[in-house]
Amino acid sequence: MDNLSAGRGAAVARIGIVSVSDRASKGEYEDRGGPAVKAYLGDVLTSPWEATTHVIPDEEDLIRATLVELADEAGCCLIVTTGGTGPAPRDVTPEATAAVLDKELAGFGEVMRAVSRPHVPTAILSRQTAGVRGSALIINLPGSPKAVRECLDAVFAAVPDCVDLIGGPRLETDPDRVRAYRPH
Ligand code: MTE
Repeated sequence: MDNLSAGRGAAVARIGIVSVSDRASKGEYEDRGGPAVKAYLGDVLTSPWEATTHVIPDEEDLIRATLVELADEAGCCLIVTTGGTGPAPRDVTPEATAAVLDKELAGFGEVMRAVSRPHVPTAILSRQTAGVRGSALIINLPGSPKAVRECLDAVFAAVPDCVDLIGGPRLETDPDRVRAYRPH
């Protein structure tokens, strides 16, 4: 576990960052997706938050168990996974995520693929999804740092309102980076 926080006085939001990669988990390859998620959140969030990070192999049972632990035990209001969303045999992050969700939020995957499509023709290969488990919003991202930024930019304006609606802490954003939309 490591700490990253900004601002004072408000409830500290616990955020899970899960890098899913066989090679990164064995140390054969540097995890770049997880640090990109953390850097993005550090740039955008102005309310206090704390990251819990994991780097795990592409094992469906382990991904499920990690998501459940972060949502149910660690009390994360937001869990972001990176990697394992493609069509290769070992890519199982979306299956593991779907298995632990109470409600799927299909719009996240739809918008992230649509926004990514002009950047890379292979955006349509990502099966990334999102949804809610208890008081946690879980979002899948592809593994590349560039994809992490492009995808989070596409959806992050809706994240604070979703976290409000599921009973999480109030997430504040830097409006020069992402203007949170709160209709409720
Ligand atoms: N989306 C964005 N925005 N940028 C990218 O570079 N890469 C694509 C796609 N989505 C990409 C992207 C590629 S090449 C693949 S294979 C899929 O995400 C799945 O990536 P993953 O297996 O790392 O999750």
